[in-house]
Amino acid sequence: MHFQKKLCSQALHIYILCFFISTCRSFGADTIAANQTISGDQTIVSSGENFKLGFFKPGKSSKYYVGIWYNKVSTQTVAWIANREKHVSDKYSSQLRIENGNLVLVDESKNVVWSTNVSSSGSNLEAVLLDDGNLVLRDGRKGVFWQSIDDPSHTWLPGGKIAYDKRTDEKQLLTSWKNKDDPSPGLFSLELDPEGNQYIIKWNRSIQYWTSGPWNGQIFSLVPEMRANYIYNFSYVNNASEAYFTYDLYDNNTISRFIMDYSGQVKQLTWLEPSKQWNLFWSQPRQQCEVYAFCGAYGACQNSLPFCNCLPGFKERFGDDWNLNDYSGGCERQMELNCGNTGTTDKKKDKFLMQPNMGWTSTTPNSALPANAKPQTVAARSDKECESTCLSNCSCTAYTFDNDKCLIWTGDIMNLQQLPANDNNGKAIYIRLSSQAPEFSGGKNNKGVVIGAVVGAVIVIFLVGLVLFVLIRRRRFSGTSKAEGALMAYVYRDLQSATKNFSEKLGGGGFGSVFKGTLPDSTVIAVKKLEGISQGEKQFRTEVSTIGTIQHVNLVRLRGFCSEGNKKLLVYDYMPNGSLDSQLFYDKRDKVMDWKTRYQIALGTARGLVYLHEKCRECIIHCDIKPENILLDAEFCPKVADFGLAKLVGHDFSRVLTTMRGTRGYLAPEWLSGVAVTAKADVYSYGMMVFEFVSGRRNTEQYADGKVTFFPSWAASVTIDGGDILSLLDPKLDRNADVEEVTKLCRVACWCIQDDESIRPSMSQIVQILEGVSEVNVPPNPRNLQVFIDNEEEVVFFTESSSTQSSQTKSNHSTTSSQAKSTSAESSNV
Ligand SMILES: *[C@@H]1O[C@H](CO)[C@@H](O)[C@H](O)[C@H]1NC(C)=O
Ligand SMILES: *[C@@H]1O[C@H](CO)[C@@H](O)[C@H](O)[C@H]1NC(C)=O
Ligand SMILES: *[C@@H]1O[C@H](CO)[C@@H](O)[C@H](O)[C@H]1NC(C)=O
Ligand SMILES: *[C@@H]1O[C@H](CO)[C@@H](O)[C@H](O)[C@H]1NC(C)=O
Ligand SMILES: *[C@@H]1O[C@H](CO)[C@@H](O)[C@H](O)[C@H]1NC(C)=O
Ligand SMILES: *[C@@H]1O[C@H](CO)[C@@H](O)[C@H](O)[C@H]1NC(C)=O
Ligand SMILES: *[C@@H]1O[C@H](CO)[C@@H](O)[C@H](O)[C@H]1NC(C)=O
Repeated sequence: MHFQKKLCSQALHIYILCFFISTCRSFGADTIAANQTISGDQTIVSSGENFKLGFFKPGKSSKYYVGIWYNKVSTQTVAWIANREKHVSDKYSSQLRIENGNLVLVDESKNVVWSTNVSSSGSNLEAVLLDDGNLVLRDGRKGVFWQSIDDPSHTWLPGGKIAYDKRTDEKQLLTSWKNKDDPSPGLFSLELDPEGNQYIIKWNRSIQYWTSGPWNGQIFSLVPEMRANYIYNFSYVNNASEAYFTYDLYDNNTISRFIMDYSGQVKQLTWLEPSKQWNLFWSQPRQQCEVYAFCGAYGACQNSLPFCNCLPGFKERFGDDWNLNDYSGGCERQMELNCGNTGTTDKKKDKFLMQPNMGWTSTTPNSALPANAKPQTVAARSDKECESTCLSNCSCTAYTFDNDKCLIWTGDIMNLQQLPANDNNGKAIYIRLSSQAPEFSGGKNNKGVVIGAVVGAVIVIFLVGLVLFVLIRRRRFSGTSKAEGALMAYVYRDLQSATKNFSEKLGGGGFGSVFKGTLPDSTVIAVKKLEGISQGEKQFRTEVSTIGTIQHVNLVRLRGFCSEGNKKLLVYDYMPNGSLDSQLFYDKRDKVMDWKTRYQIALGTARGLVYLHEKCRECIIHCDIKPENILLDAEFCPKVADFGLAKLVGHDFSRVLTTMRGTRGYLAPEWLSGVAVTAKADVYSYGMMVFEFVSGRRNTEQYADGKVTFFPSWAASVTIDGGDILSLLDPKLDRNADVEEVTKLCRVACWCIQDDESIRPSMSQIVQILEGVSEVNVPPNPRNLQVFIDNEEEVVFFTESSSTQSSQTKSNHSTTSSQAKSTSAESSNV
């Protein structure tokens, strides 16, 4: 090593050396001196070896960039990029070097593609990569002329700033990548709003669709779950010349970062060395579909994978981008409209196709939206009149008639959402298509008949082939199904027909969508179409059969699976009462879940978790306990779902986590610190969820005296101070509950959500308490919540309101109206 360092300090030598010894890649230094260059595989490494700088190719791209990445993280994780707008093609003939007082990157044709572009006058200039990931251009005597942390890409490193310079009116912001393989600036940016003392996320630097709410010295008022914690130290500076946020990590062994992701969400990730992956702890906006125009024109967004689908009659405009999860290009018509299209002599009228269960995103103040992103109300008294109003205007692309109101969209519609079947906020939207579109199978011209005949013949041949194929497959499968233990191996086509071609969607989580199906023997099943499985066949079957052996009355039973090529499906027992969130949070006033049931669900869920934690051969940590993952059978017996799936997904886990974790503050703080999590992480999430059993509301959108606050902090103070415990109860229950049981559940929940996992109870202790076998004394006040309670006066509250934003806040009004807005929108989007 020492020997190598010596050699490497001489640029010429290393150049020759690197030709012959492929392992010699680095100067072994953290500095690019005035007479050195970085080229090809050469890199520099920061003094503590935290970061490395050099040429890299993002993902599957063939383009080269100069960037800084985490050196101690085993998956390529780029924190900063010099030339994100202009790549180079050949890293060996491109050079990063100091020239005319700047650090510059010249490409293979000797053009400068990137420069620090400062006027510096040092004679001893050098570029040094510091251990916090900051690259500085400095002169020993004259100080720093430029630093990369002032020009961030999509990553906000500890010590970095999101800033606004009041003198120059310039912003220092994060901009998303275009997609996962393309670091060029995408549509989403995280910026500082100096007026509101808050962060905002904008689409295309123009439309604001998310705000953190103002900083109050402790927290951002709209993200109370991101508590003043012991991991980050945030600070905010606002004076006459500038305003900025910055943060530091208390523990410099924690590897943690914020990014403006190409999903349009800001994410907080921590590296988990034990499992060698980035763990998503927190992301905002919480739901993918709250990101403005995420699916582009004529795309329909859903909060489960795959996030975007084209509306019927449309196809992806840029298939390649779409496959890289960049949906912003949206969809285009498969067949042009007749209306307004002067080229057609055959002036048939357009028609409308009904699309059920639609919604539209409303997190952004309506006034700020362009016409294609929000519907307009027009005067029409009936469904028919609404239709003909839309039909008569060629720029009208869709309408809906609801509650005696006619709403129309004009232009290329954006922001539509496909809601799950059990969400009663869904509306039928009528989409304008050419009347000859195949979606209306009425197109009966000659061409159609010919095409029909050909298609028919092809189908017949195909079906015959398929039947033969299936018969052969069947025989083979009946042989294998024994080998999988108790599990059935299903044929894809059978599941396709059982689910009527996956038409009735029950919901979807991180691992894929779930559909209802009926087997020939009339057994009702739930079929989960897994997304993003990177495992081979054998490993998949092994993992699935392991999951199949995990059986308990409070766990959802896996009946079988299907694995044909990249089609991977799991078949579960169907749960007629759906998931707990729909029972707890949807506004079905006729059918309120009574207290006894809630208590039994809390107990049953705890028993299911005891089984996972203690009774299985290998302890299984669920990692994603939340109401969406608790299903209810016909008798309202709770069944924990989605356990054991993480292993199936392998490398794509972090992508999958996007939809599952970090969304609603169920995660224990140790997820953030980067240490291995234990079963106590589930205990924490369980505690957070139990508060929701009590209140019947999401923890982050609670109403007390017309205010919204973080429910657990309020509940903890009432529980620990011995206040009126029934005041915490879901108002729909009209105080109809056993006081002792409510107290018990609240105490258990407080105990569960301690920051220190060693203080939390185990799931089996919880079961004993809930069964009445043992007592729970008043637990210590959860530390994180203490901060809240102490500062309750400072927390910005806002009132419950959906359309009339009667904000009661002490800070500026424009901010709070969007707060109230996004909260109500969130509850309606669930
Ligand atoms: C680069 O400059 C340093 C100090 O100025 C000197 O020690 C070193 O020999 C030079 N290297 C080359 C390759 O010129
Ligand atoms: C360099 O800076 C000058 C002035 O600050 C600006 O006009 C110019 O566009 C910049 N060039 C690049 C390549 O950023
Ligand atoms: C973003 O805004 C620019 C103008 O600032 C516009 O030219 C461009 O088309 C917009 N991008 C999209 C995807 O709408
Ligand atoms: C948090 O950061 C601020 C500003 O950088 C600093 O003054 C303060 O001492 C830090 N607090 C702790 C507890 O480290
Ligand atoms: C504003 O704050 C920054 C950072 O604390 C400081 O460097 C600067 O001098 C301050 N400017 C004024 C005008 O107070
Ligand atoms: C971590 O922090 C300690 C104490 O503040 C300090 O001595 C040490 O140098 C830091 N290590 C790194 C890698 O920054
Ligand atoms: C069609 O509707 C748009 C939006 O409401 C309106 O601006 C336009 O004038 C209408 N065109 C006709 C021909 O009525």
